[in-house]
Amino acid sequence: MKPFKIRDIEIDPPLILSPMAGVTDYTFRRLIKRRGGVGLVVSEFISVEGLTRGNPKSKRQMHFDEEERPFAVQIFGGRPERMAMGAEMAEEVGADILDVNCGCPAPKVVRNGGGSGLLREPKQLELILREIKRSISIPLTLKVRTGYSESTINVVDIAKMAEQCGVEHIQVHGRTREQGYKGLANWDRIREVKEAVSIPVSGNGDVTSIEYGMQRWRETGVDGILIGRGAMQNPWIFRQFNDAIEGREPYQPGVEEKKSVLLEFFGMCREEMPEIVALGKMKQLAGQFTKGLPGGAQFRQTLYHSHSADEILVNITTYFETLRRGEMFGDGRIEKDEPPQIESCSAGAFYGL
Ligand SMILES: Cc1cc2nc3c(=O)[nH]c(=O)nc-3n(C[C@H](O)[C@H](O)[C@H](O)COP(=O)(O)O)c2cc1C
Repeated sequence: MKPFKIRDIEIDPPLILSPMAGVTDYTFRRLIKRRGGVGLVVSEFISVEGLTRGNPKSKRQMHFDEEERPFAVQIFGGRPERMAMGAEMAEEVGADILDVNCGCPAPKVVRNGGGSGLLREPKQLELILREIKRSISIPLTLKVRTGYSESTINVVDIAKMAEQCGVEHIQVHGRTREQGYKGLANWDRIREVKEAVSIPVSGNGDVTSIEYGMQRWRETGVDGILIGRGAMQNPWIFRQFNDAIEGREPYQPGVEEKKSVLLEFFGMCREEMPEIVALGKMKQLAGQFTKGLPGGAQFRQTLYHSHSADEILVNITTYFETLRRGEMFGDGRIEKDEPPQIESCSAGAFYGL
C-alpha cells in the first residue's frame, strides 16, 4: 500500500479513522491521531438540518484542531439545498474535505431521506452531490454501503454516478443497510467498485488485525482502508498497520503506555466536557480498551459501577498495577478475558446499532 491523494491532499499513510457517531469526536480523534499512522480523520456524522438551524450540538461537532489535519467533516441529510448549506458551513470552518454519509442504517435517518436511505434514491443522491459540488471548492467524498438489501446491491452504479458528479474518493463499507452490523463485510463488492471507477476507493469493514487488513488490501487493490471499531479496542492499530506496510515489526505498547493513554484520554475528557458526559466517555473507552486484556471482564464490572471520575481513576490505577504485576510475575490469579467481540459496541444507539 502507498499514500494516495484526494485531489491535492495526501492521505499518508492510506489509513483512515472511520467516522463513528458518539465516538470520533474532537477528543477521541486527537487521541488516535497522536498514536500515529492515521492519514485522515473524519468527524462524527452531522445533521445538516441541525447545522443549518443553528443547533449548538451540530456546530460543536464540526470543531477540530490543526493537529488533526487532514480533517473531513461528514454530513447527512436528504435535501439538496440543506446539504449544500451544510457543506458550505464545513468549508467555512476550514475542513479539508466534505464527506457525505450514504450508509447510516438508523430508521430515523433513513425515514428522513438520509444515510443509507439514499441508496434507494440514486436520483436524489445525484441531485445532492451536484448541489454540493456547486457550493464548495474543497473535495467532496462519499461513504456508502453496498446496497439497501441483498436483492438491491447497487454500489457500483452509485460509485459510477458519484464519479460523474465530481466525487473524488469513495469509501465502501461492505455491508448492506438491511445487514446492519451482522455477518461480515463483503470485500468482493468493494473490489468491484475499485475496478469500476478511476477515483480512489477505500474499503471498510471488520479490520481489527493487521493480517486481516493486509489480506483484504491484497485481494481488492483498494487505495485506502478505514478502521472504526478496531480503533476503540486498539488505538495503536494504525501505527501497527503502517509499520507492517513499511516492512517494520508492528509496534507493541506496554502496560504502562496503555495506562497513560487511557489517563491522557480521561484528562482530555474532563477538560473538554461536562463531568457527566466525560464519565460516560471514560467508561466507553476503558470498556472497549480492556477487551481481551487479562482481568478485563472483572475490571469492566468495577468500572460500570463507578459513580465519579475520581473513582474511575482509582480503579484504573489499581487495575493497571495488577496487570503490570501479572506481566512481570506471570500472575496466574488474573483471569483471562473473553476475546474481543467486534459486534459489541454500546456507543452507536443513534447510529442504528
Ligand atoms: C458506534 C458507531 C457509530 C458509527 N457512526 C458512523 C457515522 O457517524 N458515520 C459513518 O459513515 N459511519 C458510522 N459508523 C460506521 C463505521 O464508520 C464503519 O463503517 C463500520 O463500523 C464498519 O467498520 P469497522 O468494522 O472498522 O468498525 C458507525 C459505527 C459504529 C460502530
